[in-house]
Amino acid sequence: MSGARDGVDALLRNNQEWAAGVTERDPLFFEALSRQQSPRYLWIGCSDSRVPANEIVGLKPGELFVHRNVANLVVHTDLNCLSVLQYAVDVLRVRHVIVCGHYGCGGIAAALAGRPLGLIDNWLRHAQDVMQKHQALLAAAADEEARLRRLCELNVIEQVLNVARTTVVQQAWDRGQELAVHGWIYSLRDGLLRDLQMTATGPSGVVSASLAALAALGPA
Ligand code: CO
Repeated sequence: MSGARDGVDALLRNNQEWAAGVTERDPLFFEALSRQQSPRYLWIGCSDSRVPANEIVGLKPGELFVHRNVANLVVHTDLNCLSVLQYAVDVLRVRHVIVCGHYGCGGIAAALAGRPLGLIDNWLRHAQDVMQKHQALLAAAADEEARLRRLCELNVIEQVLNVARTTVVQQAWDRGQELAVHGWIYSLRDGLLRDLQMTATGPSGVVSASLAALAALGPA
């Protein structure tokens, strides 16, 4: 087999095996899922292939609503991300929004280095805004590797702030809907998540949560 189908036929075969395996363990799994989804969580993560959302938190289909983009950015004019957020909060009524970054993020590294990559430079400009805002913290990092780690962390904290400041989340809180926004970071080296202590549960605590998270970062 070669050409256009080379490599993708294996995926279709994998899918048949996967579906058969799931059905064997739980004969009603797909029937129940096809009727409705009621995930408790919205995941906003990086597109990086090494950070598969469901898998690293042990959740099955139907349990995690997902939005991923390069460098897990939440931009106030991004209709795609905002639509996912609105649907998740207003319609699915998720209880938690998790912004998950990861160490060694290529998008963040490109932003830090100012390395031109094309159209995506415009997207990564938002990560460079985070750099600008936290210049002093980044300057204090011991070396380039530490600086990249720190920017990956700072970016998560800022994106949690961005989620919390959307009209979607603000209005949900105004009407008394229970909704928490969390900032986590994933390590490619050991597969572990770290809670950045950036959790916003209402409009009044957002800024103090970010200050607490910044204080909890420790030396870079
Ligand atoms: Co990334």
